[in-house]
Amino acid sequence: MVPNATMKDHVFYRHSRKVYPTAVRGQGIYIYDSTGKRYIDGSAGAAVVGIGHGVKEITEAMVRQAEKISFAHGSHFTSEASIELASRLIRLAPEGLTRVYFLSGGSEAVETAVKLARQYQVERGKPEKYKVISRWTSYHGNTLGALAFSGHTGRRRLYLPLMLHTPHIAPAYCYRCPFSLQPQTCSLECAADLEKTLLYEEPGSVSAFLAEPMVGATAGALVPREGYYQKIREICDRYDVLFISDEVMTGMGRTGKNFGIDHWKVKPDMIAAAKGLSSGYTPMGAVIVKEEIHRVIQDGSGAFVHGHTYSQNPLSAAIGCAVVDYLLKHDLISRSAETGKYFHRALKSLERHSFVGDVRGKGLFGGIEFVKDKKTKEPFDPKLRLNGLIGNRAFEKGLITYPGGGGADGIRGDHLLLAPPLIITEEQIDDLVGILDQTFTEVGKELS
Ligand SMILES: Cc1ncc(COP(=O)(O)O)c(C=O)c1O
Repeated sequence: MVPNATMKDHVFYRHSRKVYPTAVRGQGIYIYDSTGKRYIDGSAGAAVVGIGHGVKEITEAMVRQAEKISFAHGSHFTSEASIELASRLIRLAPEGLTRVYFLSGGSEAVETAVKLARQYQVERGKPEKYKVISRWTSYHGNTLGALAFSGHTGRRRLYLPLMLHTPHIAPAYCYRCPFSLQPQTCSLECAADLEKTLLYEEPGSVSAFLAEPMVGATAGALVPREGYYQKIREICDRYDVLFISDEVMTGMGRTGKNFGIDHWKVKPDMIAAAKGLSSGYTPMGAVIVKEEIHRVIQDGSGAFVHGHTYSQNPLSAAIGCAVVDYLLKHDLISRSAETGKYFHRALKSLERHSFVGDVRGKGLFGGIEFVKDKKTKEPFDPKLRLNGLIGNRAFEKGLITYPGGGGADGIRGDHLLLAPPLIITEEQIDDLVGILDQTFTEVGKELS
C-alpha cells in the first residue's frame, strides 16, 4: 500500500489530520483508489476534468510532444504547440479577443489579466488608472493578489495584513438579494452597484472590473439575472474600465457555452481561463485578450513586464491542443448544454429535502444551497460544518463533490458544487443524484 498521512509520508497535505485515499486510476467520470473503490467524480475535482479521465488521445499527444521537446523558455522560443493552441482558443472566444498569454493555472491567469490591464492603462496614457473592482461572494484564486480580489471572508481573513485593500461590490445573488428585492421589484441594483462604487472611487482611478460570470467555489453556481452582464458592460464602457471575465471554472463548455459570459452575448476585454482548458492533464491557464490591448503594448513599450517560467511550455500547450480537439470532436460543449437540462431536473428533485434551499446553475455546473429554514433562508451555524459533513458522507458513498461555505455572509452559508465531466450520461447522472439523495436523507435525519 502507498503510505499516506497516517503512515507519516512527507507530503504537506491540505488537512494534516485527514487520511486521504490514494487515487490510482481514472477512467471516464470515475476515479479508483488503491483499495479498488470507485468514485463518481461529481465535481470533476474542482470543475477541472471536462473531457473525462484516462483519455488515450491526450496521453498519446503528451508522449508525441515529449519525444520532440518538453520545455523551451518563452523568452527564447515559441513553439508550434503554443501557436496552435492560441489559434484554437481564439476560435472559441468571443469575437475581438485575438491574443493568448499562457500560464500554469487560474490564480496566475487572474493576476496576469490584472497586471496587463494596468500596463495597458499606463501605455495608453492613463497612468492614474490602477484600481480593480471585484465582488463579494467570489473567488479568483489563492495567491495574494487574486485573494485580495476574491470576496470570501473566511479565505481572506488570516492573510488580510498581507493583502492590498481593493473595492468590492455586492454580488448578483438572487436567492439572497443583497438589496432585499424580489424578481418583480428588481432593477438590477447589483449591477448599478458597480456604477456607485466607481463614482465613489473616482472612475479615473479604476483600471478594471473582475467577475466570474457564474460564481463557483464560494456560492455554488450562482447565475445572475438576464440583463446583469449587459448592464455591467455598459457601465464599464461608460467609465472607460476594462471588463475581465474570470472563466477559470465556467470556461471551456462547463456551462453549455464556450465561455460562461456567452450566455449573455457580452464581450469582455479579457478572459482568464484554466481548469477545463487542459482538463487536468497538465497545470495550465491562459488570458485571452482583446486585440486593442495587445496593440497598445506592441506599439508602446513593446514588452509586457511580466512572465512565468512555464508560460507557453510546449508540453502543456500540446496537451491543451489535444484537449480542445477532443472537446470539439465529441461536441462536448453542446452536450454539456443538453445533458445539463437533465442534470438540473434531477438536481431539482432534491428540493424535497427539508434543508435544500436552492438549486441553481447552467449546463453541467450546478449548485445546491443548504438552509436551516426554507422560509427565512437562515443558514446553519458554521460550527456545524454542514457542507463538509455532506461532502464527506457523499465521498464515503463513492461520490466526489465540491463543498463550500460562506456564501451567505462570508462566513455563514453552506453549499455543494456539482460539475461532473462533460461526458456524463443520463444514467450516470441518476447514479450521482441517487447518492446525493441517500446522503441528504441520512443527514436530514441527523439534523432533526
Ligand atoms: C473562478 C476562479 N478563478 C480562479 C481560480 C484559481 O485557480 P487555481 O486554483 O488554478 O489557481 C479558481 C479556482 O477554483 C476559480 O474557481
